[in-house]
Amino acid sequence: MSVTPALCMLLSLVSIGSTFCKECYWNRKCQYDYFSTVTPYDSVRGDLRDQPKDDGCEVISVWSIHRHGNRNPGPDVTRNIRELQYKIKQLLDSEHSPASRRSNNCSQDMYDLMNWSWNSTMDNSAEYLTGIGYEELFDLGRRLYYGHDEFLKSVDKVYFKATNEQRTITSLAAFVRGMSVAQGNFSSGIDPPSEIDYLLRPYKNCERYTEEVKNGPKLADELAAYDSSAEFLAINVKLGALPLKDLYENFVNATEGDKKTLVSYFTHDTMMEMVYCALGLYKDPEPPRGFTRDANRLWRTTQFSAFASNLMAILTRCVESGEQTHRVQVLINEKPTPLCPEEGCTWQEFVDKFDSYNEANLDVCQKSESGSSSNLSGRSDTKMNMAKGLVILIIVLNMFL
Ligand SMILES: *[C@@H]1O[C@H](CO)[C@@H](O)[C@H](O)[C@H]1NC(C)=O
Ligand SMILES: *[C@@H]1O[C@H](CO)[C@@H](O)[C@H](O)[C@H]1NC(C)=O
Ligand SMILES: *[C@@H]1O[C@H](CO)[C@@H](O)[C@H](O)[C@H]1NC(C)=O
Ligand SMILES: *[C@@H]1O[C@H](CO)[C@@H](O)[C@H](O)[C@H]1NC(C)=O
Ligand SMILES: *[C@@H]1O[C@H](CO)[C@@H](O)[C@H](O)[C@H]1NC(C)=O
Ligand SMILES: *[C@@H]1O[C@H](CO)[C@@H](O)[C@H](O)[C@H]1NC(C)=O
Repeated sequence: MSVTPALCMLLSLVSIGSTFCKECYWNRKCQYDYFSTVTPYDSVRGDLRDQPKDDGCEVISVWSIHRHGNRNPGPDVTRNIRELQYKIKQLLDSEHSPASRRSNNCSQDMYDLMNWSWNSTMDNSAEYLTGIGYEELFDLGRRLYYGHDEFLKSVDKVYFKATNEQRTITSLAAFVRGMSVAQGNFSSGIDPPSEIDYLLRPYKNCERYTEEVKNGPKLADELAAYDSSAEFLAINVKLGALPLKDLYENFVNATEGDKKTLVSYFTHDTMMEMVYCALGLYKDPEPPRGFTRDANRLWRTTQFSAFASNLMAILTRCVESGEQTHRVQVLINEKPTPLCPEEGCTWQEFVDKFDSYNEANLDVCQKSESGSSSNLSGRSDTKMNMAKGLVILIIVLNMFL
């Protein structure tokens, strides 16, 4: 089960909800489905099958990196939601309730809320990929097949790897199943996950990241002063370059050899965002801060870090005026990016952009020589999730108390 409907229902009960959901919840599904990193993939994706294809070109390599699909919330958020539900019921039942009940016209919504029972699968499978999450990845695999079936039928070498988590391992399995139409059998290309993964989760074993970002300022400070300081960005840019180096090497090898290759990785939003930073995408002139909300900002996690978000690069070999050339298409969530025009970058343009990632390394993880740890603040995935849960909790409680 996705947490979104429950969240939406809670929001619809408080006054800020009225800006999102004018009608009752029971007779009209909430239209608002942009929830930052817990946004459903279908709300933001394009379609791989509709991207332009050149008849003179043949796909020879595909490289992709994916975030896992829709998942259950972590134990902290689950606990908060369960406690919140209990409190709301208690408040609606209590002597103070007439006012709160009257503030919402929808008797059916009130009734449904009072009759909402907790599903304990949420407690037992915290952070697990949900059925919806499985479908998000399965359907993407299927679209890759229908968009590029000739490539998938003739690919020589496949390689898949996930981080060592149920939600990424299962996302990988769903994607591979989705691609395996008829004769396809790609499971032999699945590499087992590594406990320490310097490519897909380098930040987890990066001393500097752990000390300065994850164990950085306390939660409240973090919310108040989310600060993309130059140094914080520098860590993102350096770690995000590691997968891009892998992409570059794979494509260089594919142009030089005669093997068709498919490589796909399954990781987390933190890593996806590092990759975007390394690519210089979605970079606002002023770093986003917690104090103000810029409606026109470029950094929108809903659009590029939603569940099952992905970056996919497609290398084609073309014959242009009798000469063999290569082109590279880069898609994010199945839509073109500013990195390459719709018909793809020329090989030279790709090399110019990606050659620098060849230098990627983990040096940034060494603590700075001077020993003075710089004052960084920034987000970490668990903290932000907790923060979201808490903010909702606070808003809702304020309305009722
Ligand atoms: C609880 O959630 C699981 C997983 O989404 C679902 O399969 C199950 O039917 C639910 N149980 C109830 C009683 O709703
Ligand atoms: C019921 O809803 C209408 C329309 O949203 C609103 O004008 C009215 O104030 C609501 N009534 C109560 C008792 O909240
Ligand atoms: C209350 O919810 C339970 C399941 O949680 C359901 O079986 C029951 O029909 C509901 N009661 C009413 C009156 O809708
Ligand atoms: C696919 O490949 C795996 C690993 O090589 C093998 O165990 C499995 O039997 C194959 N499945 C089919 C349907 O050929
Ligand atoms: C590319 O080819 C070189 C030389 O064969 C090899 O050492 C390297 O591991 C390959 N890189 C990738 C990412 O496959
Ligand atoms: C970190 O912040 C403290 C207090 O604001 C300041 O005294 C110190 O110089 C800062 N350190 C660095 C490396 O910026």
